[in-house]
Amino acid sequence: ELKVKVCIFGAGGVGKSSIVTKFIDERFLPEYDPTIEDFFRKRITLNDEQINFSIIDTAGNEEYSLIIENWIKESNIFVLVYSITRKLSLKEVQFFHDKIQRFFDCENYPKVLIGNKSDLFTKREVSIEKGKKLAKELNCKFIETSAKTGENINQIFYETILLEIER
Ligand code: GTP
Ligand code: MG
Repeated sequence: ELKVKVCIFGAGGVGKSSIVTKFIDERFLPEYDPTIEDFFRKRITLNDEQINFSIIDTAGNEEYSLIIENWIKESNIFVLVYSITRKLSLKEVQFFHDKIQRFFDCENYPKVLIGNKSDLFTKREVSIEKGKKLAKELNCKFIETSAKTGENINQIFYETILLEIER
């Protein structure tokens, strides 16, 4: 059995809880209910192997930044999320990246960068190129997703499995 301990970070409202909910039970909730913290588990079988995910869904709101270190300590793989409809949320990825990097004292901790809300392309503020550029700087994979349509949501978690295997 492979244990994958994932923590999902990003600014408030970028869709972290929506991504996790879509992955865990294939639902999408249009209402916004800000998170304080939530813990999830999911087991899947992939190529005859059991994968056991534990996922921490965090608060984007900076009021909770005091407990960021606790979330980091409990996790091995990091999913950094911004919304393609909010330029500022791309900048905020850097805030979470700096915290994690400082904690591990290492730039190359396992992570994946996510540009969420790809279904809202008419409201796009962040180009694919900008996302790719940041991923290159952070040295990680980049995926655009939609928690609404489900596009590439499972891909995020396949990526975390690969990162766990490489770890
Ligand atoms: P915090 O818990 O406050 O940090 O926010 P969050 O990152 O968990 O955001 P959440 O998942 O609660 O989503 C915020 C709002 O965006 C909700 O109204 C969601 O329905 C909506 N949303 C999330 N993902 C998507 C998406 O891919 N497409 C669209 N159209 N809306 C989305
Ligand atoms: Mg949330």
